[in-house]
Amino acid sequence: MKKDKVICHCYNITVAKIIKAVEKGTTDWKDLKKELKIATDCKKCKEHAKAVFKDIVKEYK
Ligand code: FES
Repeated sequence: MKKDKVICHCYNITVAKIIKAVEKGTTDWKDLKKELKIATDCKKCKEHAKAVFKDIVKEYK
């Protein structure tokens, strides 16, 4: 997956931003939402964002 791909358009959150958060130790979806506000506005990105986050946690934690 391209790192500049935007996963959550409401908050302009890219794959790279999620990777950064995971590398800093965020491995829980609720914590990621608090940290980046991802999937907290229109929520259209929610299911996809969750799946991407899970994959990134597997790969980068
Ligand atoms: S696209 Fe993520 S909350 Fe709207």
